[in-house]
Amino acid sequence: MSDLSDSAKLLIDGKTIDLNVYTGVEGERSIDVTSLFKDHGLTTYDPSLGNTAICRSSITYIDGERGVLRYRGIPIEQFDRPKPNYIEVAWALIFGRLPDDEELSQFREMLTRHELLHEGLSNQFMALPVDAPPMAILSAMISMMACYHKEFLLLEDEKSLMGAAARLISKIRTIAAFTHRRAMGLPFIYPDPSLRYCANFLHMMFSLPYKQFDVSEEMEDALNLVFILHADHEQNCSASAVRVVCSAQANLFASCSAGVNALWGPLHGGANVKVMEMLEAIYRGGYRPEDCIAAAKDKNDSFRLYGFGHRVYRNYDPRAKILKTACDRLFKTLKRNDPLLDIARKLEELALKDPYFVDRKLYPNVDFYSGILLRAMGIPTDMFTVMFAIGRLPGWIAQWKEQHFAEGGKIIRPRQLYVGNPKTDYIEMEKR
Ligand code: ACO
Repeated sequence: MSDLSDSAKLLIDGKTIDLNVYTGVEGERSIDVTSLFKDHGLTTYDPSLGNTAICRSSITYIDGERGVLRYRGIPIEQFDRPKPNYIEVAWALIFGRLPDDEELSQFREMLTRHELLHEGLSNQFMALPVDAPPMAILSAMISMMACYHKEFLLLEDEKSLMGAAARLISKIRTIAAFTHRRAMGLPFIYPDPSLRYCANFLHMMFSLPYKQFDVSEEMEDALNLVFILHADHEQNCSASAVRVVCSAQANLFASCSAGVNALWGPLHGGANVKVMEMLEAIYRGGYRPEDCIAAAKDKNDSFRLYGFGHRVYRNYDPRAKILKTACDRLFKTLKRNDPLLDIARKLEELALKDPYFVDRKLYPNVDFYSGILLRAMGIPTDMFTVMFAIGRLPGWIAQWKEQHFAEGGKIIRPRQLYVGNPKTDYIEMEKR
């Protein structure tokens, strides 16, 4: 392998085991332990995989110490201005480079062509409870897409992958908007092929049969930006879920549905809901931000400062920085204010000078400001994690593609350290 750079020695039971060391393009080093079990009967113990590189990837690069995030090598900040374009980013993540004009237009056309749901799928959607959690609906619908697009169950070339990706990226926004409309008891608004991706989504969410929702350019840009900032984050919980399912040669729909379910958890994508609930509770309860910070530090108090801290970032999450500026920009153009933004700013200010947060390197993460921006667009809190999922979908597809087409790809099957009973005899019921 070209990145083999060094070797490491492991001394155990008086024996020395030589291990290869690989170096990534940014200098990060990784010890190859793949031969340990086969050759020596040893496993490595890393329960939350915080120290394990599970794949080689060329999609996204993060330097958590320096707060760096790049998609296909391009710093995340460069996707913000002059005009954020989520579909361009989606294409780049999936296909490995920025698209040219024609490629982007073709992909846009595919998204427009596939924006409707199959009537059979719509009927199944209608059978789900109106008040079902939106993430449960989303994962079920993505899983069910496999029933209606059987031609995409085997994806062995780029053309069919593009077909499946276009359908997923296009239909997820229709599913999301319909979920919201149905929960609100509002009539469905069908997609408008003359609108671009984000404007079309906002149209389906908020237009009325007799009144088209006026999507301002600022709002459309802000939504593009939110989706871009969520589009990929290398081997996070949901991307890893997608890879694990994919490694069993499961199809793209099944794998992305697994990604949705992983994202739903409050320690992952569900944190944006928790942040909003926290800010609303502080606002309604009239609590002092100083007291909230004290509660977050108190180990006997269950209060946690949601939207703070990250497994990888030990610095300001670059996405949070961009979102904070975007909030200021959008509120200025909307000539509005949100008291929750003031609370968030104050909490951040206090936390960033508090030794508890400073020593633990806890900074705002992507969820801290994203909800405030979504709220300014009129997106209800229970749809926040769905919004995250729409943004993250291209990342899941890119991770699936990389895993699926990886040379010598094997099923992901970790080991364990067994700590249960030693061999124990079965006892018949009457003797227990
Ligand atoms: N508020 C208060 N204390 C915190 C917070 C927080 N938000 N986050 C971490 N800490 C403390 C922990 O209590 C721990 O303290 P200790 O060393 O005294 O025991 C220390 O900081 C290290 O925290 P861990 O939980 O070990 O860090 P880990 O890397 O396992 O977890 C996580 C990261 C899950 C994101 C955590 O910071 C957290 O729960 N944050 C709030 C939830 C959140 O915002 N999640 C979204 C993450 S971004 C995303 O998934 C899109």
